[in-house]
Amino acid sequence: MHIQFTNTHPANVRLIARIVNQGDTLGDLDAALSEGAPAARFKGSAGQVFESFVSADGSVNRIALAGAGEKDAETRRLNIERAGGALMAKYLRSGEAEMVIDLGHAELSAEEAAAVLTGVRLRAWAYDEYRTKLAAEKKITLEKVHVIGAPEGTEAAWEEQAAIAQGVEFTKQLITLPPNVLYPESFVAMCEEAFAGTGAEITVLGEDEMAKLGMGALLGVGQGSAKASRLLAIRWNGGKDGDKPTVFVGKGVTFDTGGISLKPGPGMEDMKWDMGGAGAVAGGMLSLVSRKAKANVIGVMGLVENMPDGNAIRPGDVLTSMSGQTIEVLNTDAEGRLVLCDALHWAQEQYDPARIVDFATLTGAMIIALGHEHGGVFANDDELAEQLLGAGLATGDKLWRLPIGPAYDKLIDSPIADVKNVGPRGAGSITAAQFLHRFIKKGTPWAHCDIAGMVFSDKPGATHDKGATGYGARLIDRFVADNVE
Ligand code: BES
Ligand code: MN
Ligand code: ZN
Repeated sequence: MHIQFTNTHPANVRLIARIVNQGDTLGDLDAALSEGAPAARFKGSAGQVFESFVSADGSVNRIALAGAGEKDAETRRLNIERAGGALMAKYLRSGEAEMVIDLGHAELSAEEAAAVLTGVRLRAWAYDEYRTKLAAEKKITLEKVHVIGAPEGTEAAWEEQAAIAQGVEFTKQLITLPPNVLYPESFVAMCEEAFAGTGAEITVLGEDEMAKLGMGALLGVGQGSAKASRLLAIRWNGGKDGDKPTVFVGKGVTFDTGGISLKPGPGMEDMKWDMGGAGAVAGGMLSLVSRKAKANVIGVMGLVENMPDGNAIRPGDVLTSMSGQTIEVLNTDAEGRLVLCDALHWAQEQYDPARIVDFATLTGAMIIALGHEHGGVFANDDELAEQLLGAGLATGDKLWRLPIGPAYDKLIDSPIADVKNVGPRGAGSITAAQFLHRFIKKGTPWAHCDIAGMVFSDKPGATHDKGATGYGARLIDRFVADNVE
């Protein structure tokens, strides 16, 4: 979506939108709107849209009112995003090619005005590359948004938010691409392209290097796949020299069949987005790098494909991780923790992080517990957990904290190795977190975000269409902005 600021109303654009708060009077508008809107029960609540065609000076204009909710709402910023998003939901494929958005009527601050545009840009993202026979009336038509009436400072605020949006779009793209196109090496290639020229430093470990380092767990998951595994690190030194980095680690299973513990067929295609943690980390890093965040941050992604094969790992195998801890594999479908334990250990050895936060579509049990409203967060540090919860509330990438502790930890003791990769039936998301915790060094603040329910949606939302949500990128960006910068 092309978003352009202007002082004067472009004469040839007939679709004109304005943001309306709940309770705003519409007295300055044509009666078709001022009387039509209340008659149609338009109240200005967040995400509501009312439109009417109005003739003026011999031409017909299409006027849209987008609701932003109450002015003093606690979730004001997100409500305003919803207004922008709702306009895209309605007009992106409407036949209209251009739209004017008038930001001059809703008493918006510059930040809030830019939030309208964030909603516009994020909700307008779509991936139609492979839909070569898409009916004409389903194609995207809206290409340009002219912004008028923006309060002073909106352009600068938008510049920053546009940089953040770029990261969210990157996350959505990675999640959306099919698994024959997005696999470990192509994931790396996409990042190399996205970060080229930004000043971010990219490190890629191949299988030989990982084998030398002893990453038997991560490599074990990938060994049934024809696609080579990769460990990817993206480093951004925007902070002070000598400030210990904040490290984000992502699960990047580009396709999870379950391996020898094969998943059932129906719905298996969903497991293309089992790289959602790595997608969030890559997108979050791109947001940070694009807005030149004043922080030292590193994103580490463990990239593998989990396939059944004559060479695949078996239930019963014992793997040796880079940390030296041995792992009894009871279920090859509990592969994410095997990938993460080596990525987490390597990241701690390599970077001596001030704090480390991992993102992973780790357990189906997380969806049973929290549905698609919150990701789960587990942490060995209360402050870190609070900071993540706060960033979640601010961005709409919401999290809910769950417990960890010694009683849960005992459940993954193995009779033959140091740890087993699955616990009993109960508390599946917690025992997965306990597994990761065993690979965190004493004294390092760590949090694990299980985002299995969040990266993909079967229905449209405020800032996404059906499909990839972009979850996590803004969470990461905001966490750094509020707590590290
Ligand atoms: N990638 C899955 C988790 C998942 C399942 C994410 C459904 C999103 C939707 C993960 O690798 C997995 O298969 N976990 C198993 C763990 C079990 C074998 C202990 C699960 O959740 O069933
Ligand atoms: Mn699995
Ligand atoms: Zn998985």
